[in-house]
This record gives sequence, C-alpha cells and structure tokens, in this order.
Amino acid sequence: GGVFTYDPGFTSTAACDSTITFIDGDKGELLHRGYPIDQLAEKSHFLEVCFLLLYGELPSAAELEDFEARVTRHTMVHEQMHNFFRGFRRDAHPMATLVGVVGAMSAFYHDSTDINDDWQREVAAIRLIAKLPTIASMAFKYSIGQPFVYPRNDLDYAANFLHMCFSVPAEKYEVDPILARAMDRIFTLHADHEQNASTSTVRLASSSGANPFACIAAGIACLWGPAHGGANQACLEMLEEIGTVDRIPEYIARAKDKDDPFRLMGFGHRVYKNFDPRAKVMKQSADEVLDLLGIEDNPKLQVAKELEKQALNDPYFAEKKLFPNVDFYSGIILEAMGFPTSMFTPIFALARTVGWISQWKEQISDPKLKIGRPRQLYKGETLRDYVDIENR
Ligand code: CMC
Repeated sequence: GGVFTYDPGFTSTAACDSTITFIDGDKGELLHRGYPIDQLAEKSHFLEVCFLLLYGELPSAAELEDFEARVTRHTMVHEQMHNFFRGFRRDAHPMATLVGVVGAMSAFYHDSTDINDDWQREVAAIRLIAKLPTIASMAFKYSIGQPFVYPRNDLDYAANFLHMCFSVPAEKYEVDPILARAMDRIFTLHADHEQNASTSTVRLASSSGANPFACIAAGIACLWGPAHGGANQACLEMLEEIGTVDRIPEYIARAKDKDDPFRLMGFGHRVYKNFDPRAKVMKQSADEVLDLLGIEDNPKLQVAKELEKQALNDPYFAEKKLFPNVDFYSGIILEAMGFPTSMFTPIFALARTVGWISQWKEQISDPKLKIGRPRQLYKGETLRDYVDIENR
C-alpha cells in the first residue's frame, strides 16, 4: 500500500545532493565544479579535469604533478588479466569485454574494495582512471587479432591511449600531438554529466555497498544502450547508411513518423532543450581533425552537416526542441583517427569513468546515504488462491 509519486524515467525526481556538475538545459550550460565546459575543453586537459571532478578544485602545479604521477603509476594491468581477455570470443564487442573485465577487477585488486577505508577508496579511484584506457585498448587489440601493447608512462593520458591502440611491435609509431589533443578533448567533453542513466546506475549499485569495480561495471553496462552512450556508434552507422545528402529527407521523414521506431541518432537530449554545449566544441574539433588529416569532402561529415541543417529547419525538431548532442560529431573524429565504430562507446566509457567515480565517492560519503529503493504502482492481479495444475 501507500501513495507514491509516479515518475517513470525520473523526469522530476532528485535522488541526491551533488556539488559536482551543474546543467541548465534551457541555457545550454554545463559546469563542472562551477567551471564552464567550453573553458575546460579549451584551456584545461583531461587529467586536470579529473582532479577537479574528484577533489572539487583545480589543482596547483604540485598537486597536478602528484596526481598525474599517481595515475601513471597504475596504468598497467595485472599480467594474469591477459588470460581473462583471451577467454572472450575474438569477435566480441569491445563493450562486452569491458563490462566483463572491469567487473573482474574486483577479483584482481581486492586490496582496494573496502569502501569504508579511505585509502582503499582512493586507490580504487586512481586504479580505475589509470587502467580503463589500458583495458579499452586491450579489448580493441584483441578484437583485431593484434598483440596487446603495454602503456608508455612517458606519454600523457590521451597520447598513451592512442599508442596502445595503434602501435604495433613491428613498426615505429609516433603519436601525432594534434590527434592526442583532439583525443584529450573528447575525453574532457565526456568526463561527467550529472545524474544520467549510467551515473544513476553507479549510484544505485553503490547504495547497497557494492565495491567500486562492480559499480563501474554496472555503469558501463548501462552506458552501452543506443539511447545513451551507444548513440555514438549508432550515429555513425546511421550517417553511413544515409550515405548521400539526397537521401536525408527520407530519413527525416522516418524520424518524424510515429509508426516508425527510427530516431535520428545523436539528436535530442533529456536535459538540453536548446543546444548541447559539448556538441558545439565537438563540431569544431571535427573540422580541425579532418583538416589535419587532409580528409576533404568526408561524405559522412557532409551528410552530418546537411542533416543537422535540414533537421534544425524542420518544425518537428524545433517544436520538440531536438538538437545535435555530444554524440553527433564525436564519431566522425574517432573514425578519422582510425577507430572502428565498435570502439566509440568504450572510449565514452573510459572518459566517463572519472565522473562515475566522483559521483560514487560523493554518494558513499553522504551521511544521508540510504539504499536506493524505488517503489511501484502495482497493476497486477489481486490476491487469489493457487490452482492445481490439472485444474488450469
Ligand atoms: N529523433 C526523432 N524524434 C525524437 C528523437 C530523435 N532523436 N528524440 C526524441 N524524439 C521525439 C520523441 O519521439 C518524442 O516525441 P513525442 O513527444 O511526440 O512522443 C519527443 O521527441 C520526446 O522524446 P522522449 O523520448 O520522450 O525524450 P527523452 O528525454 O526521454 O529522450 C533521448 C532523450 C536522448 C533518449 C532521445 O532524444 C533519443 O532517443 N535520442 C537519440 C539517441 C541519442 O542520440 N542519445 C544520446 C544522448 S546524449 C549522450 C548520452 O546520454 O549518452
């Protein structure tokens, strides 16, 4: 019994206090600890934003150096984890591998699973941020049949990730600093986004006292869906399927048709109803990267730009306040860098790990913490007597 507020999709329920990220959906504003995302994307870099999200303030030079050293120290994964990867089918989606391997981290690093120990919490946070790029790159290398590449701690976070993904033992590989900067910016733009579905999943999992690796694995599983982090892969596949600008009206018509489940991937957002500030930076970055790589007339970028234009001029999208979101342009950059579409969501996951961890830390430090336990409006049968099988 009891009277409960019915709020499917939690469109009007706040489940926590938070001081990490602020979004004003009408203004298209995204602030981390008060700092606007466009300033962070332009002037800061990913590990500095990680520090900001985790500890609440921008680091001093000494604090940043110390933090980077701590993260760098943990980039390798336990050698025995290689066997764990090898248990997956070669053609497994890297997100499937990621969910499994991150979940298994609690078996490899059980000296940082006690959530009541401050030191263990801190080590778990650093381990997750440090090892996710290694794990994501290993999932990639395994899927294409290449040997795992160990991290290089003389490289920065983003450059090291590109190194682990694209270098092969037989060849000399130099990370292009401009590509590393673009990679870093993609990480920064995805670092946190307050109480989205995957973050809420992490918080709900952590409310039971589950260990941090289990909680982050739950977040990764949730992120995988096409309405959430899986949208970047789905968006690029959609641009590919559209193929040429002349076919855009057909797809816009399908997106507007209520009898057709098709949606424009990379369009719309639960909170942003004016524009997604991350998409603005991402669009500019896409132009820069394609320019750098000498990719002119990229057909997908052409389709993307024209699709954006036509959709924004269409009353349906204007009325429903549907705008390109962060996933609309990120795929074009990642593809130009050489990533297959199956790696787009793992890249989102590795960047969002710091956000999940920051929210997890905040949640378990909250003295008001209660186990998450939504109620329901029961619509089923009322009490009735069991019927023996021969009488049914
Ligand atoms: N294409 C066509 N119509 C759409 C779209 C779209 N992409 N998005 C929403 N609508 C329509 C929807 O049909 C509904 O119409 P009506 O009111 O007539 O039933 C209306 O707009 C509101 O949609 P909703 O599903 O009730 O809105 P929501 O806040 O629950 O969903 C969303 C937000 C992001 C799940 C949704 O816009 C969507 O499915 N977009 C495509 C997937 C995507 O790009 N996701 C990435 C989101 S940003 C990064 C991330 O979170 O990972």
